Amino acid sequence: MPDHHLHAVRAPLVAGAPGRALSGRLRVPGDKSVSHRALMFGALAVGTTEITGLLEGEDVLRTASAMRALGAEVERVGEGHWRVAGRGIGGLVSPDDVLDMGNSGTAARLLLGLLGGHHVFAVLTGDASLRRRPMRRVTDPVSACGARFTSRAGTLPIAVEGAADALPLEYRVPMPSAQVKSAVLLAGLCARGTSRVEEPEATRDHTENMLRHFGATVRVEVVGNGRVIELEGQPELVAAPVVVPADPSSAAFPLVAALLVPGSEVTVEGVGLNPLRCGLFETLREMGASLEVTNARVEGGEPVGDLTARYSELRAVDVPAARAPSMIDEYPVLAVAAAFARGRSRFRGLSELRVKESDRLAATVALLQANGVASTVEGDDLVIARNGAPAAGGGMVETHMDHRIAMSALVMGLASERPVAVDDAAFIETSFPGFAALVNGLAGRAAITPAAGVSSDPVGVP
Ligand code: S3P
Repeated sequence: MPDHHLHAVRAPLVAGAPGRALSGRLRVPGDKSVSHRALMFGALAVGTTEITGLLEGEDVLRTASAMRALGAEVERVGEGHWRVAGRGIGGLVSPDDVLDMGNSGTAARLLLGLLGGHHVFAVLTGDASLRRRPMRRVTDPVSACGARFTSRAGTLPIAVEGAADALPLEYRVPMPSAQVKSAVLLAGLCARGTSRVEEPEATRDHTENMLRHFGATVRVEVVGNGRVIELEGQPELVAAPVVVPADPSSAAFPLVAALLVPGSEVTVEGVGLNPLRCGLFETLREMGASLEVTNARVEGGEPVGDLTARYSELRAVDVPAARAPSMIDEYPVLAVAAAFARGRSRFRGLSELRVKESDRLAATVALLQANGVASTVEGDDLVIARNGAPAAGGGMVETHMDHRIAMSALVMGLASERPVAVDDAAFIETSFPGFAALVNGLAGRAAITPAAGVSSDPVGVP
């Protein structure tokens, strides 16, 4: 059987100082969270949904294939332009084969909720990283709608027997997780009656926003730091155009690179600025970063703007745990920024980082230590102490099938004294196809290249 997983081909890369400033304007790929949801909700709507700006990364392509296998017509019309002819809620069919969600936790968890509410049989699996990640956080609450999930140990592969007649759900999400919240809401979408989900800390609200955009009735009440969401089940979702903003989590990499490489000025256009995703930008400003938003506007129902980062001398920061949900994917690259800042940084309350594509807390510490930056984990906090000088670099970073560890390490290499290598950058394809070429374009030369002796393919050398 052919191996469709990214890990089949290793791609070691190395990043070194470009020897000049990074400069230019660019657009990064579409938002991953919004892209998954656009395909899924398009498949549940009646009519044809036009999606523009879709992220064509490996994770989202897995969702496109899965929705096709579940009966929706999913067609690529042009670059980032996709059309989905939906089946209506309750209209998904049992797929012929196992659904392989690759590296994508969002695809797997949202689908477990969606399938749990549908009267279908399906088996979900994923790559070695995804098969290690906890799924009971979704299958336990979704079971209450009448679905049955079978697995060895609460991890993929999981067989789903969806509910014949889904019951509404009422659930308080115990950890800050937009994926769990969304899975419960998606199961509730198929039920007769109102489902109610409470989250003690607000997490990204793309599911709520997009369900409304497709015509569902969603009520949201702010309670302290959290929210209570009520969803009327079995609405008629009607196809609606989706404009996917540029992913702030991807924009983070070239922006942090510009902050660290002397003399740089980089603008990323059309970045999604949903307040529940902007914790990194707030934190970088607290560190003294020159980070400016221009051309702020609303596109496709989400706030967007052009973000300009200019080289800045950074100081250490203490990031409160309450901010973690709004920047949960950005800690590895923030850690790289802190490795060039003056003083002792502390990022608080990071237990959720242990269950990402890798154990990101351990992987981030290892990334820093391999490059001469003292860093420790104290409880659930990450601590980094530096003197404002460039990090030593020179390390080989193990990426553990984690795209964000790979990109963070390469950003570090652009600004450290010696180059930084990664053992495998293949997983960057999950969220940011073209990352290395794009950074090289900003540098005006090949700052990121295949690691010596491993491959001779140049990476987007301008
Ligand atoms: C996501 C939620 C977050 C985030 C992930 C995308 C989403 O995961 O880390 O990259 O699209 O809902 P958790 O729900 O596990 O926090």
